[in-house]
Amino acid sequence: MNQTLQNDLLIKAALSQPTERPPVWMMRQAGRFMPEYWEIKNKYSFLEMCKTPEIAADVTMLPVDLLGIDGAILFSDILVTAEAMGGDLSFEQGVGPRFSNPVRSQADADRLAVDCIDKLQYVADAIRVIQQRLNGSIPLIGFAGAPFTILSYLVEGGSSKDFKLTKLLLNNEPKLAHAILQKIADVTIQYLNMQIEAGVNAVQLFDSWALALSWNDYRDFSHYYNTYILANIKRSVPVISFCKGSSVFAPMMAEAKPDVISVDWNADLKNIKQALPAGIAVQGNLDPFVLYADKKVIKEKIIQLFERMRGEQGFIFNLGHGIMPDIPFDNVKYAIEVVKEFRY
Ligand code: CP3
Repeated sequence: MNQTLQNDLLIKAALSQPTERPPVWMMRQAGRFMPEYWEIKNKYSFLEMCKTPEIAADVTMLPVDLLGIDGAILFSDILVTAEAMGGDLSFEQGVGPRFSNPVRSQADADRLAVDCIDKLQYVADAIRVIQQRLNGSIPLIGFAGAPFTILSYLVEGGSSKDFKLTKLLLNNEPKLAHAILQKIADVTIQYLNMQIEAGVNAVQLFDSWALALSWNDYRDFSHYYNTYILANIKRSVPVISFCKGSSVFAPMMAEAKPDVISVDWNADLKNIKQALPAGIAVQGNLDPFVLYADKKVIKEKIIQLFERMRGEQGFIFNLGHGIMPDIPFDNVKYAIEVVKEFRY
């Protein structure tokens, strides 16, 4: 750790050390559900926000100042690595991310750059600005997309319901898929090491769409590269491994030796934790849709989860996936207050 933190609950829980209560943060905690986000978003495009360190810092700080969370997450996107490698990325309102030059052939793959980390310097700059603003109050979480999830965007040219083209590539042209995944993995290692050097206090690897894969394909096309990344980044800060599908894949994810596994909302968190090797903490796993409900229900469901985890420790409270843009801000704030009242 490069500095002493006033609130180090998240780091302690990530390292499976005892804490008085579980720390809390939420995936997509800086975003469209916040009116203050829109004040900034109305002036700049999403990529401008990511690429301007002062603005990225302003947005990163919104949930710190307005929600009282125990960890800040860098404001950026998992797709910036794919852009640096040569993907022509845009974010269109209501459409989501788009690559106008999808990667589907050997020639497309050959064009992807691995020596491109200089293009992501703005992220290191943002981290330094954010750490000045945080001033040692709470940890800053850095992140990257995992190779399989990034591959899916590059191949599909954007978001996908069924990952049809990605699966076609894995099935018909596994060698080509592996060549692309290897390039993404090599960039991801450099990128996470850059973030760690710039001063993040933890990192999370997002493999959001692993859920689409069979057990064997997850092992060969996702887990293999995540293991390679975790073995080759500086392990001076805790590493959180997230995927949708972790309810199924957690035992394999553990073999990659993350400090924390972030669990989707399908599994019983205690059962997952108890089946994991000692020393791997869990993060999760409230269904984010609960945050649309009445406050009474929100409280009940959070208490139910906490009571199940009482006595476990090595537990970071989070959602099973990100906050949706139309969840009421007040409900998010309330949920965080409820968690912060717990004591083990
Ligand atoms: O969590 C945070 O608050 C930090 C910032 C963050 C964003 N994206 C901001 C964002 C993080 C950690 C991400 C990760 C990310 N991006 C993932 C993995 C997490 C997950 O949800 O599974 C994925 C798959 C992406 C790709 C991506 N970026 C999509 C599919 C979209 C469109 C989403 C949608 O609902 O339209 C984005 C855009 C994006 N990333 C926004 C934000 C705040 C919305 C941009 C806007 O304001 O228009």
